[in-house]
Amino acid sequence: VDNTRMQSINDILTDIFSTAISRAFPDLTDPPIVIALSGSNPKFGDYQCNSAMPLSNIYKQSGKKVAPRDLGQKIIDNVESHEIIEKLELAGPGFINVYLNKQFGLKNLSTIFVHGVNPPQLPRKLNVLVDFSSPNIAKEMHVGHLRSTIIGDSICRLLEFLGHDVLRINHVGDWGTQFGMLIAHLHDKYPDFHEKSPPIGDLQAFYKESKQRFDEDEDFKKRAYASVVKLQSFYPIYKKAWELICDVSRKEFQRIYDRLDIKLIERGESFYQTRMEAIVKDLQAGGYLEEDEGRKVMWGSQGGQNIPLTVVKSDGGFTYDTSDLAALKQRVDEEKCDWIIYVTDAGQATHFNTLFGCARKAGLLTEKIRVDHVGFGVVLGEDKKKFKTRSGDTVRLLDLLDEGLKRALDKLKEKEREKVLTPEELKQAQEAIAYGCIKYADLSHNRNHEYVFSFDKMLEDKGNTAVYLLYAYTRIRSIARNANFTPEKIKELAKTCQISLDHEKEWKLGKVLSRFPDVLLKITKDLCLHHICEYMYEISTTFTEFYDSCYCIERDSSGDVVKVNHGRILLAEATAMILEKCFSIIGMKPVSRM
Ligand code: ARG
Repeated sequence: VDNTRMQSINDILTDIFSTAISRAFPDLTDPPIVIALSGSNPKFGDYQCNSAMPLSNIYKQSGKKVAPRDLGQKIIDNVESHEIIEKLELAGPGFINVYLNKQFGLKNLSTIFVHGVNPPQLPRKLNVLVDFSSPNIAKEMHVGHLRSTIIGDSICRLLEFLGHDVLRINHVGDWGTQFGMLIAHLHDKYPDFHEKSPPIGDLQAFYKESKQRFDEDEDFKKRAYASVVKLQSFYPIYKKAWELICDVSRKEFQRIYDRLDIKLIERGESFYQTRMEAIVKDLQAGGYLEEDEGRKVMWGSQGGQNIPLTVVKSDGGFTYDTSDLAALKQRVDEEKCDWIIYVTDAGQATHFNTLFGCARKAGLLTEKIRVDHVGFGVVLGEDKKKFKTRSGDTVRLLDLLDEGLKRALDKLKEKEREKVLTPEELKQAQEAIAYGCIKYADLSHNRNHEYVFSFDKMLEDKGNTAVYLLYAYTRIRSIARNANFTPEKIKELAKTCQISLDHEKEWKLGKVLSRFPDVLLKITKDLCLHHICEYMYEISTTFTEFYDSCYCIERDSSGDVVKVNHGRILLAEATAMILEKCFSIIGMKPVSRM
């Protein structure tokens, strides 16, 4: 066992019970191992092994009638004693209640004072590529892209923390048909654009102008189409125009990423141009393409879907689908990815399922490579309609962030924090609240559901919100600080003193903290980040319960410290350390004072 890190309780229990079950029922191949966290009632222990019921069903199917309770007892009889288990109990129709051993909990938690909060041990380090954010050049980056950015970044942070090699890819839309009209318009409006940089800082307006001409003027439309073709064959002057336009957008996007502290490598659709040419040839040669009214399409093998990928348009151009096929191949063959994750709105689920189906059919993707489409629901305004400004325009993300900052400052002033904090601290708190609440509101909702964007709600300081957690964290951190314990002193203290887990509320908190590895491992399965948010909230509320009934520092009537409970100071520190790691996984920056 690696004793530099906390262990996954789930993994250990799964091991223990699968050994016991195969020993008890050697005739069964692949018996069901069901381990669950017990509910809040302490009567049911901390964890449960619920294998007896499905086992009895298996026997029933083969004509043998055995009571699940007897099977449960047989499992218990075959469990070898293990340091993690305090006692086992048979309950109800055959549940096995597992009570954790405190000594184990103590040992497991104490590792963090010596080695820091480490991730659970990885079976294998993977090459993971996360394709997220991915706005479209010259178009506004909207709240959907913000969701992708926040969720994608957090997935990256989690996988990086777990020790995987993560490539953060921004698959920007920089090669579509919109460039035809943009370039043609640039050509007309600023003929000397290649010598003198054109004033297209307001790309939105420029986009609108081009679009209008495109829709109204047949001749312009033709030239626009011709321009895309020339761009896609890398005509220097068209490429120059394209670069100019991309640069403007890129700078806009970067402002958002900088403010939210998001790292991304830009690798847009254009990157795949020559690879698209190559893959179309391959697919053609492999007999995968079908003619369809002048287009070339490919059908996925997944059943039930009747939408093909459009691989070549009737004018010979490539599409979003083509670039995704080429990108997938590049990721498998060149990046040697073991796992590819796409983060986009749920509306693209069919696109990705078809893509994966086609890729498997053409042998670009094998069983060994994991692919996930991480979809998410739409962002709604407080009126439950699509998120828009009052005048009905799409909300500019920079404006949204600014409003967050303003509201965060109002909130702090409401509490008169500007009187207590230094200007520097105030600014840090403001940013922590503003960006934290936007990220947290997004991540704490099940990503599969739509969610209502409401500053009022996210800035509440009660309930499962960023503000609540940020305050909880500063409070916990201040306990040790008020007793004059620096991080170094805590480390020293941990060498001579143990975390206190004797009191019922201490042990309850200790068990919640011990679940840290399991929460992370669970997210690697379903890629749903609300689990970690719920966990952070549970840590905070359990901490409050503990703090309400257990003193850490005792003061006399004049406020002087008379007694410090060292074991509890350590428990509070362990809580802060784990909470801090959770914050960093969801991309939030807690502050020590606010
Ligand atoms: N640019 C696309 C959009 O705005 C998202 C791209 C997602 N990534 C991908 N490989 N298709 O909808």
